[in-house]
Amino acid sequence: MAPVAQRVRGTQDILPADQPHWELMERAAHTAATRAGYQKIATPIFEATDLFVRSAGEASDVVAKEMYTFTDRGGRSLTLRPEGTASIVRAYFDGGLDQEPQPVRLFYLGPFFRYDRPQAGRYRQFHQFGVEVIGEGHALLDVEVIQVGWQWFSELGIGDLGLKLNSIGDEVCRPAYRELLRDYYRPHLDTLCEEDRIRFERNPLRLLDCKVPQCQPLKAKAPRIVDHLCGPCATAFASVKGALEAAGIPFELDPSLVRGLDYYTRTVFEYQHGSLGGAQNALGGGGRYDGLAAELGYRSTPGVGLAVGMDRTLLILRQGSPGQAEGVDVYAIALEDGDQGYAFQLASTLRAGGLRVVLDPGAARLDARLRKAARKGARVALIVGPDERARGEAVIRDMSAKTQVTVPEREIIAAVTQAVGAA
Ligand code: HAM
Repeated sequence: MAPVAQRVRGTQDILPADQPHWELMERAAHTAATRAGYQKIATPIFEATDLFVRSAGEASDVVAKEMYTFTDRGGRSLTLRPEGTASIVRAYFDGGLDQEPQPVRLFYLGPFFRYDRPQAGRYRQFHQFGVEVIGEGHALLDVEVIQVGWQWFSELGIGDLGLKLNSIGDEVCRPAYRELLRDYYRPHLDTLCEEDRIRFERNPLRLLDCKVPQCQPLKAKAPRIVDHLCGPCATAFASVKGALEAAGIPFELDPSLVRGLDYYTRTVFEYQHGSLGGAQNALGGGGRYDGLAAELGYRSTPGVGLAVGMDRTLLILRQGSPGQAEGVDVYAIALEDGDQGYAFQLASTLRAGGLRVVLDPGAARLDARLRKAARKGARVALIVGPDERARGEAVIRDMSAKTQVTVPEREIIAAVTQAVGAA
């Protein structure tokens, strides 16, 4: 009979072999974020659809093609979160964080959902570590979040990282630049790919993100927004570049970096890693979003943040040495059926004493079960048969020295702890 269901396309299981890498990423996130004073936050997996439509933008790929939207039994339109920033801004106001000393620094880890074409490094359920700083607009905070991301990669031992940087201006200078871009592209509309003709109408900045070969020559000569920033945006961008240099974080200016979500103002950036190749080389990205709170109907409040992709980072960690799996101290074996209850009781005693104990529920030959204990990496095997049970004792076998001793039940925690320590 065939299984009734397959793993859903675009999802993946993080199997035990990958968990050491996964836990390393979680610990590194905690370390990098808390060292800079960020506090953890968790928001719901689904939100009102409008939250994402208004924040990411109607014309963005995320909203136009990639959302998991459904109507619940109460007739509400809900969406599985495609990204974290909009939810965090909502929670900042909902939870009264706007009343605390500003800025508020937050970090989060968790799953996100986008209906994209699955391939290596691109999934329909993926995971991010993200940070957001809300409530103050100083350009140094842009550099701080970039540095938290940089620190995360360095905690993981990932070098060979490229940081791309751009400024996309704000509501003062961007409208004029948008028209300039339209004026530049207008005479060449018939040479553009189909997608670009739609972008020309709806979201001209995204013309700069086109990867289609036929559009590249035109794109290469397009006016650059960094040459058309208003005074305050230009000053902020100069501060960001200066502070990055002072912090020793190398970056490359990329005038075509515009990002796929519409809420950004001023600084935008992406971390890239050569080994991933192709379109999936962005390991993370972010930027400033000073207009987002007002767009969502709240008091105008500046913010900046970043998110890194844990699934893509896992692909890089896998290229290195396998992580250290969680170990086992004791493998408990009952020789005969009637001894199982006694072995179970001793295993419970040892766990209460702080030891990691795996109980063998089988009835195979002892040598086969000892081989299993070795494969599990157990340092000690605890063996009980009818004689040990009758006398209230247990055999403790040192798996590497292949020596064993018999001890009474009341000494079992001390004896096993000592044997584990010596092994
Ligand atoms: P994003 O660039 O859309 O930004 O996503 C950040 C990272 O998440 C990407 O660089 C990538 O590593 C990972 N990622 C995105 N989509 C997928 C996917 N389908 N499969 C695997 N990995 C994926 C944001 O989400 C913004 N919220 C970042 C931000 C925070 N901006 C300001 N604050």
